[in-house]
Amino acid sequence: RRLKNFLIITVVGFGTYYGVSSYRRYRWFNEISDSDKTMGTKPRVVVLGTGWGAVPLLKHIDTEKYEVVCVSPRNYFLMTPLLPSVSVGTVETRTVIESIRSLIGPRIKYVEAHCVSVDPKAKVISCNTDGEQPISRGDDVKTILIPSRRAGGSSSRIIKDSTRVRPSFDMKYDILVVSVGSENNTFNTPGVEEHAHFLKEILDARRIRSAISDAFESAMTPTQTPAERKRLLHFVIVGGGPTGVEFAAELADLVREDLQIYFPRLVANDVKITLIEALDHILSMMDKQISDYTERHFHRENIDVLMNTFVKEVKQREVVVQLKGSDELKSIPCSVVVWATGIKPRALTNKLREIIGLDIQSNRMGLLTDQYLRVKGVADGSIFAIGDCATIQIPKLVDRFQLLFEEADTERRGTLDLQQFRALVERKIAEFPQLEIISKSIEKAFEEADKDKSATLTLAELHSALEKADTKNRVLPATAQVASQEGSFVADLLNQLNDIQSNNYEQQNLKPFRYKHMGSLAYVGGDEAVVDFTGSKPILDMFNLKPISGRSAAYLWKSFYLTEMFTGRTKILLAFDWVRTQFFGRDISRY
Ligand code: NAI
Repeated sequence: RRLKNFLIITVVGFGTYYGVSSYRRYRWFNEISDSDKTMGTKPRVVVLGTGWGAVPLLKHIDTEKYEVVCVSPRNYFLMTPLLPSVSVGTVETRTVIESIRSLIGPRIKYVEAHCVSVDPKAKVISCNTDGEQPISRGDDVKTILIPSRRAGGSSSRIIKDSTRVRPSFDMKYDILVVSVGSENNTFNTPGVEEHAHFLKEILDARRIRSAISDAFESAMTPTQTPAERKRLLHFVIVGGGPTGVEFAAELADLVREDLQIYFPRLVANDVKITLIEALDHILSMMDKQISDYTERHFHRENIDVLMNTFVKEVKQREVVVQLKGSDELKSIPCSVVVWATGIKPRALTNKLREIIGLDIQSNRMGLLTDQYLRVKGVADGSIFAIGDCATIQIPKLVDRFQLLFEEADTERRGTLDLQQFRALVERKIAEFPQLEIISKSIEKAFEEADKDKSATLTLAELHSALEKADTKNRVLPATAQVASQEGSFVADLLNQLNDIQSNNYEQQNLKPFRYKHMGSLAYVGGDEAVVDFTGSKPILDMFNLKPISGRSAAYLWKSFYLTEMFTGRTKILLAFDWVRTQFFGRDISRY
């Protein structure tokens, strides 16, 4: 009887699933032929990118209203927050990528190409399918080297077949959405490009995984000297932001949970993990309690954290560092170096800024946009920028603070002390939630402006400090959360537009973009994570949430990423990967 019930449930389940998916495909095919017939009659929206900003946009945009074309050199979406897990084998490569075609369906056209230039006047983009500007070292389809020279393995190459030539092309658009992300910032530090690994693309993670395995196998060679063994097994991570911290944590897990079993002597005597950070604490963008907790936790996990230490050069067998306040340079012998010191705009972003004019596009961090995410300096408002390549400026921040100043300066003395200012900002944060995220940088600008160190400011000083904070600082952080909210916002905005020619959005009663910060998460190893709700006011503040660290945070981290996975397929793969790692450990072979 039980078997019968089981069989009925299985058959009904599979039948429903098959029926629903067939119906979806049938609808898609109908929509393709419809859209082919109406081609050219709908306004064309061209979206550049297949990352955190572009995908939510592509999923939400109304294809009945627009002909949507996505152009990107990467034909998949990458779950970037899980890259540290991939680089040590906790999670497998295919779990964190999803084909863009399966995500968006055939209603949206996808073209695999690099956009290399934009002409905002003619409303045309120029694309080069051979990748004049590869989006990362790993994404140049012509020659993909696996593993890299640093990993010491044979250079297996995927050579693009010369008969599959794809000519360059131009494409017209009515609306362009630039969502091209960012690239690694080396700050022109010598040797980084040649000798360090980045952690931004899927091939970076594969190369690191391979390099770790290679370091251990090399250290096992019988004739290796003790000093060389120590060098081979010294792993250095540069940059104590979330990327560096999460990678260090995953590496420590790999060593303790798996490599310890196969290389017990090496792990006991020679393995060393060092995280180098130029500032005086790691995870500096999070709450101080979280930074302190992570530093203590890393100490327990045997991760050495060198703070106030600046990496000046990366050589083939060492990194050269300088301690803050000292002129002396020190060499640290090591083999695998992971470079995670932040991001900078891509060449296309800078080119577009130049085309528009650097007087308007004055922010070096990316394309400056208005509150509706339209790129400033494009008269007809036909270009939007979202995600890491964009910087949204809160307008009239200076004016708002002038009002605050006047409010605080009740005796009309024309000066304000820092204590008063801080108290005021605290009170006003509820009114402008974005304020909390940038209040630190504003305070820093204040301190800089207060040259005579009187701890009091005049109105003129206040103006110069705020103008600096307004234009120099990235108002929103370059995170997946921001990009994805911006993507959904632009889709909703375009769906609501009655007339795309009219760009007076205030008149059409359209609401500007408002970022809702839901908190920041980071995995810190040993099945522990940290969660910071700073800046997530007023929603989460209603529940008075404090920073969380430890195992409970790790459950939150895991459930969050499981729900964030874009499809059922990747959700199941991720759950299986975690279970597999728990029961059978990680695969430590080099491939
Ligand atoms: P980051 O910019 O957040 O941190 C880089 C760190 O490297 C800084 O603390 C800086 O002081 C340090 N640094 C720079 N040059 C150095 C040098 N020569 N020597 C030593 N230290 C040096 O960069 P990250 O971690 O790559 O993150 C990039 C963006 O992505 C950030 O906006 C971050 O918030 C976001 N992100 C967020 C995650 C999360 O919320 N879980 C995960 C990964 C990234």
